[in-house]
Amino acid sequence: MILAGGIGSRMHSPELPKQYLKIGNEPIIIRTVRNFIDFGSFRAGVICCPVDWIEYTKALLLEYGISTDTVFVVPGGKNRNSSVQNGCCFLTKNFNIAADDVILTHDAVRPFIDSRIIKDNISAVGEFGAANTVMPVYDSIIRTATGEFLSEHLPRNELYRVQTPQSFRLKELDNVINSLSDEELETYTDVASIFSDRGFRVKLVEGLDSNIKITTPFDMAVAQSIISNLP
Ligand code: CTP
Repeated sequence: MILAGGIGSRMHSPELPKQYLKIGNEPIIIRTVRNFIDFGSFRAGVICCPVDWIEYTKALLLEYGISTDTVFVVPGGKNRNSSVQNGCCFLTKNFNIAADDVILTHDAVRPFIDSRIIKDNISAVGEFGAANTVMPVYDSIIRTATGEFLSEHLPRNELYRVQTPQSFRLKELDNVINSLSDEELETYTDVASIFSDRGFRVKLVEGLDSNIKITTPFDMAVAQSIISNLP
């Protein structure tokens, strides 16, 4: 499931949401989807995108040679978790889902996901039921209650940054995501944490420095630089 339902306000590109901007010679979302197609073992893909961009997204897939018979485009929701809900709804209605079928959820704007991370997510769900892709933090992290003065120093060796994919058994994801209140849908920024709060064990999978989330114009420059240094 590729989460592409945002409008990328921090990118300041109002005419074209950031997932459609080009890095190298193709749009970010195409590079992201292609990484999963190239991996090879997926039964279907679902892209959750803004309602007004559904036809555009379908046309883009076809333009870049990706079949819309196996990669489907559905409307996203008003927050990321609602987009996950819509993606689950589409898959559970249109496919005969078995108890052990695995779903990987991934940000459309992380185009440098590699096959090792995909493979490790699938294995971790098989063994432990749920997985989250994370990286250690290199900076020291502090907490501030006011935004002005330091409140607390946090132990860096226990802290990780969350990337995607976050991966689950699809049936369990569908149940959990549909159990959230409107407030929880709005406030949780990561689905694996919801699983953890609901008592599931979530296995941590090591991410990759280059698996960046393209959020700001600076990240676009980093992405262009990664592309130009690829072999
Ligand atoms: N996303 C989504 N549905 C939403 C909001 C976000 O599927 N309603 C997706 C985005 O398209 C993105 C991913 O979740 O691929 C991570 O979100 P973020 O980087 O915050 O994207 P935006 O919400 O687009 O960015 P911003 O917060 O700057 O507006």
